[in-house]
Amino acid sequence: MLTTGVESLDELLGGGFAPGVLTQVYGSFATGKTTLAVQAALLSGGKVAYVDTEGGFSPERLAQMSKARGLNPEESLGRFLLFIPMDFKEQRRVIGGLKRVINREFSLVVVDSITAHYRVEESRRNLTADLGRQLQTLLWVARKHDIPIIVINQVHYDSRAGRMKPVAEHTLNYRCKDILRLDKLNGGGMRAAVLERHRFRPEGGMVYLRITEKGIEDAFIDQGQNQAGQTPRGISS
Ligand SMILES: Nc1ncnc2c1ncn2[C@@H]1O[C@H](COP(=O)(O)OP(=O)(O)O)[C@@H](O)[C@H]1O
Ligand SMILES: [Mg+2]
Repeated sequence: MLTTGVESLDELLGGGFAPGVLTQVYGSFATGKTTLAVQAALLSGGKVAYVDTEGGFSPERLAQMSKARGLNPEESLGRFLLFIPMDFKEQRRVIGGLKRVINREFSLVVVDSITAHYRVEESRRNLTADLGRQLQTLLWVARKHDIPIIVINQVHYDSRAGRMKPVAEHTLNYRCKDILRLDKLNGGGMRAAVLERHRFRPEGGMVYLRITEKGIEDAFIDQGQNQAGQTPRGISS
């Protein structure tokens, strides 16, 4: 298990990000998806393949988080292998290439996000099948090397459901066995992480988090009520 760096979140996830599995982390902008992925990467100790399609990866932020944890920023950055595909086609090539790139030195793969390019080109034919194939490749890599893979996803407003939903929900949920949703709480910097699906943990559990210089931290408020599995709905914007 790969630690998230937050004790309560590790517990929620049954120990952390699981090897051999695609974990989907989704939520609206600035909910902390990138911060969480970078934090897990930082703490993984090994090499990390980071596919950045949104330009959300920041060496400055990584350095800040490293220093706040007493780690060497240059050493941390040196463990990241950064890929920046400019469109969905390049993303397909990059993800296909991971089959050759990943070896035993790697402890994590992050795709941040898998749907940014997909959304732009959504009207093109066969795009969903292509997305499915990319996820299939990622799953192969996760299993082959027994490492966790974090698949970050965006949200869109589903008018039929009347609420925010993950993009390409069916295609992603078919392959992502563990699903974590990040929400902004009204006002302030508080965030909530809700377990939407897990292989062996009850769904609906949630923990409160905040984003700090260090990265993602426990918000240390009374979570007694939520251990019972209360899930707030519709607070994500
Ligand atoms: N040093 C910091 N201290 C506190 N919050 C920060 C710091 N750096 C960035 N943030 C906050 O992190 C949030 C962005 O998180 P990010 O992981 O990029 O979100 P996402 O990937 O979901 O869009 C913003 O709300 C920003 O204000
Ligand atoms: Mg991001």
